[in-house]
Amino acid sequence: MSLSLTIPAPIAPPTPGAPGQLRHLLGIRGLTRRQAEALLDQARLCKAARHAPAETGPSRPLAGRRIVTVFYEPSTRTVQSFHAAAAALGAQAVDLPVDRSSVHKGERLDDTLETVAAIGADAVILRHPQTGAAHYAARHLDVPVINAGDGTGEHPTQALSDALTILERRGRIAGLKVAIIGDIRHSRVARSNAHLLTLLGAQVWLSGPPTALPPAGIPGAARVARDRAEALDGADVVMALRVQRERQASGLMPPAAAYRAWWGLSAEALEQCSPDVVVLHPGPVNRGVEMDGELLADPRCAVRQQAANGVPVRMAVLLTLLARGGDRSWSMCSSAAGW
Ligand code: CP
Repeated sequence: MSLSLTIPAPIAPPTPGAPGQLRHLLGIRGLTRRQAEALLDQARLCKAARHAPAETGPSRPLAGRRIVTVFYEPSTRTVQSFHAAAAALGAQAVDLPVDRSSVHKGERLDDTLETVAAIGADAVILRHPQTGAAHYAARHLDVPVINAGDGTGEHPTQALSDALTILERRGRIAGLKVAIIGDIRHSRVARSNAHLLTLLGAQVWLSGPPTALPPAGIPGAARVARDRAEALDGADVVMALRVQRERQASGLMPPAAAYRAWWGLSAEALEQCSPDVVVLHPGPVNRGVEMDGELLADPRCAVRQQAANGVPVRMAVLLTLLARGGDRSWSMCSSAAGW
């Protein structure tokens, strides 16, 4: 399948103002603190409402709406949780199976997306290997576009899921020390998290192999640690990033054993952190590389909670972008809650 596409990579900021005014969710960069906090408040409401008994639960605010997931890269968590979120809100979620689509016949991204919209889409959720693809899509479509990961650009709903998990575990984000460890340079998860967590007042430290650190332009107000020990020292949250095997093949990343020794998380490495450290990983985890397999069962590890929180976060994003005035019974988001 040819994915070649020349896309300039403008990082256009979303429309500033209240969250209800967001047209698309293309990245964390450009969101105001109030918009980010309101999305998280909305996610917490969605989580509570989703687990309410049916008789007291909310209505189906997005009934009759159709969202389409268009993923040019594999996904388990993101695509599944968008579909679960749409179902919880009464919307229909449809997947374009890119591998079996006319993309194989050479159809361009803009033609593919415009066709999807013409057939019927109230929102398009796009994952694409090219950085800037979601911005490109937003310029071609009249419906909201949600970035589900664009190259090395951003993965905003992952960062919101991670922030919700930190809030649930620690009760706040402001003032926490967060260590992000791994292939920072190529990680859209690291980029979105660095922007979001610094926006919300955390101190973000980045650590990884020298070939995997950004040559310039550290995202957000993050700092680069000298080594893993400096990043982990007293950390309240540690986020390990997935080692992308294709980068190991290219020589950009050390072999797995060396990576584990220098940047992997183990029970021993976590002794440098705060006693109630929260361990995160966006998944999928390469056991024994980014983190030892037994850490997945450690009570400090919130990896499964991160995945579960993808549903209410994506519900919040869909509601914010799609709910009409009359649908706002779920959209009780006001200004920031007291965290
Ligand atoms: N974290 C994440 O984006 O996972 P998937 O690739 O499984 O969606």
